[in-house]
Amino acid sequence: MKSIITLGIESSCDETAVAVVRDGREVLSNIINSQIDIHTLYGGVVPEIASRNHINNISNVYKEAIKQSGVSIEEIDVVTCTYGPGLVGALLVGLSYGKALSYAINKPLIGVNHIEGHIASNYITHKDLEPPFICVMMSGGNTQIVHVKDYTKFEVLGKTRDDAIGESFDKIARVIGLGYPGGPKVDKLAQQGEANIKLPKTHFDNMDFSFSGIKTAVINLNHNTIDINKADLCKSFEKTVTEILIVNVKKAIDKTEVGTVVLAGGVSANSYIRKEFLNLEKEGIKIYMPDLKLCTDNAAMIASAGYYNYINGKRNDLSLNAIPNLKLE
Ligand code: KG4
Repeated sequence: MKSIITLGIESSCDETAVAVVRDGREVLSNIINSQIDIHTLYGGVVPEIASRNHINNISNVYKEAIKQSGVSIEEIDVVTCTYGPGLVGALLVGLSYGKALSYAINKPLIGVNHIEGHIASNYITHKDLEPPFICVMMSGGNTQIVHVKDYTKFEVLGKTRDDAIGESFDKIARVIGLGYPGGPKVDKLAQQGEANIKLPKTHFDNMDFSFSGIKTAVINLNHNTIDINKADLCKSFEKTVTEILIVNVKKAIDKTEVGTVVLAGGVSANSYIRKEFLNLEKEGIKIYMPDLKLCTDNAAMIASAGYYNYINGKRNDLSLNAIPNLKLE
């Protein structure tokens, strides 16, 4: 069968990324231009600055992705781009570029849900992975437990009622003086600490999450305790949120009777969370997680998810718009 080459475009936050992927799993190129250094000056992503930088970067990122892939523009079968969720101005840059490209080369356009993309990063890392599985989706803007029934069929079993888990990592890092981006810095400091501080856990009858209570507790402890050991605080935070995640994952396994668990999103790069989830294999649960460089935003995951949408018959036209609060359906 002829292979299908998808071009992916990602610009939902502060990474301008373009990738070329064959048959949804084989990455031919994956170019990422990160704006982290620019946004670090402000302690977080400034949406207007992100949009302007996407405009400046996207053509060069696209050209480099085509060059490194070794395929010609004529060989691209489908143009796929993130159309939500994300920052609306940022999304519009990648989406407009994708629309123009699909029109110019006369190839189908497919809008990809960014969350679906994060899930698909696992298809690139693990060639054997197939649905169904339970996905723990944890990023800067989302925390969800998803029953992935098929490549394009999802049921959200639980989600955060307030902060996303990545948002909590970032906020804590800022308050204790580690700066932006917070997650990797908390991860590093926690490796020198002990999980010896008791923090509150919020659980619901269903599989929803709440991270605002533990975030506030960490911030208050930091403000009110003289000489608090920040490494211990970070390690205790990581341990507590991991326990919260695992409780809900086990509920999802019981409900669906699916014994495969897949991590996705930027926070799945966390070394403590990865280690603790791998420990679940001792209980007979099969664990998959993305390669570290595919945990955070990239376009290969968009091209992969776009491929599965393409073979399932999805097509968009040029009226496709950005949807900042797009949900997984
Ligand atoms: O998936 P992602 O790149 O962007 C969104 O789609 O939101 O996730 C970014 C989030 C940020 O909150 C960042 O702090 C967090 O992922 N993150 C981490 C680590 N690396 C990135 N959190 C904890 N530990 C890490 N090693």
